[in-house]
Amino acid sequence: MKIGYVQTHPLFGAKDTNFEHVKGLLHGVKADLLVLPELFATGYAFISTTELQSLSEEVDGPTFQFLKEQSQKTGAVLIGGFAERDGDKIYNSAMSVYKNKILGIYRKIHLYYKEKEWFSPGDKTPEVFKVNGVNIGVMICFDWFFPETIRTLALQGAEIIAHPSNLVLPYCQKAMETRCLVNRVYAITSNRIGREQRGEDDFFFTGASQITSYNGEIISSSQNNDIGTDVVEIDIEKARDKNLNQYNNIFEDRRPELYRL
Ligand code: ACM
Repeated sequence: MKIGYVQTHPLFGAKDTNFEHVKGLLHGVKADLLVLPELFATGYAFISTTELQSLSEEVDGPTFQFLKEQSQKTGAVLIGGFAERDGDKIYNSAMSVYKNKILGIYRKIHLYYKEKEWFSPGDKTPEVFKVNGVNIGVMICFDWFFPETIRTLALQGAEIIAHPSNLVLPYCQKAMETRCLVNRVYAITSNRIGREQRGEDDFFFTGASQITSYNGEIISSSQNNDIGTDVVEIDIEKARDKNLNQYNNIFEDRRPELYRL
């Protein structure tokens, strides 16, 4: 199975330009699963609700049309972030698309910093969906800080974690080694680069997109200033076997009756 990320440099508010940018980066790429960054078409640093409203869309909007087209071209399940409008609420969401179908929408449950001013937090348990026999779970950026997120996905059978991101802190990539190791799952952290100086904030996005293996090894890593796509071959069976040795099964050995949540 071939999985990959697309590391991009979006321009704030310029959806069509950002779609064209990603289209160029995906030209000629073939894979089974490709992950794009969080909010890849809108940019990140909103400064008003009106602005977010104008860049948000319903699930069947332009981002779906774009991901559908790119899924058909690449043969891959495409997963990318967008500002999802549902009634009077807007969520920081990620859409998973295969050919002409939406497989799932995930609404970020742990909002970072001023995202709390603009977005409604997701209020549903993160779900796992099956496509072509593989179980995929989605979490978005700062969700990594809460180990419960990936655990919830892994306990529901996720074998690969798609992790669209707009990282501004430098700790995630290292943490993903442990997150993947202790759940024996693969993860694709797709990050962006560039700077957004808007209102009183000045964000530098840290790039270094990464594919982390079920045993904590980094099997692909990009620079902090590169743009582009990388695709690697993985053995999904490794993520299905939760036995560490003949005595330890990492899920069966859990002691939930002794844990405090
Ligand atoms: C983040 O969650 N975008 C930092």
